[in-house]
Amino acid sequence: MTGQRSTYTSMETSTAEDWATFTVRRPARRALLPGRLTDMLKQLKSIDDGAPIDPFAHSLQAATLAYEDDADDETVFMALFHDIGQFVSEDNHSQVAAAVLKPYISERGHWIVKHHGIFQGYYYFHHVNQDRNARDAYRDNPNYEACIEWCDKYDQRAFRTDYPSKPLEFFEPLIERVMLSGGDG
Ligand SMILES: [Fe+2]
Ligand SMILES: [Fe+2]
Repeated sequence: MTGQRSTYTSMETSTAEDWATFTVRRPARRALLPGRLTDMLKQLKSIDDGAPIDPFAHSLQAATLAYEDDADDETVFMALFHDIGQFVSEDNHSQVAAAVLKPYISERGHWIVKHHGIFQGYYYFHHVNQDRNARDAYRDNPNYEACIEWCDKYDQRAFRTDYPSKPLEFFEPLIERVMLSGGDG
């Protein structure tokens, strides 16, 4: 949308009309977000972490595993974008991804994405002098078992070099369904 810009020089001096201008542009801004997020996902191709496949291919594989498992849209969406935080964060990528995905997923889904890093640790922390059972600190959380299952079925096993993952385009309708339906984002 093109149109007049507001003219305030500080938020303190903005008017209700200015915020009506902001609000009327909101749907157009939201419509661009699925494309932006998928562009961000593609950037994961450039991350060299020495794994058998790059994080973009890993994400497609995790999402395909969830899709082939007849998982619901949210679960596939989470598998596709759970590592998006790696683009900008080396140390807390789970929390970054969870914050980005939060408007589009359930509380349970958000909890799983936010904690997937430490739950994934069960599969390798013992190789890097960390406690592979660190996830047990969350044993009393109602999402504990679901996070274990999600990591086991879709994240920790999505490193095959010969897996026939669906291309990103395959998931685009699902991404739009999840990101553009309901809520005010
Ligand atoms: Fe991760
Ligand atoms: Fe992952």
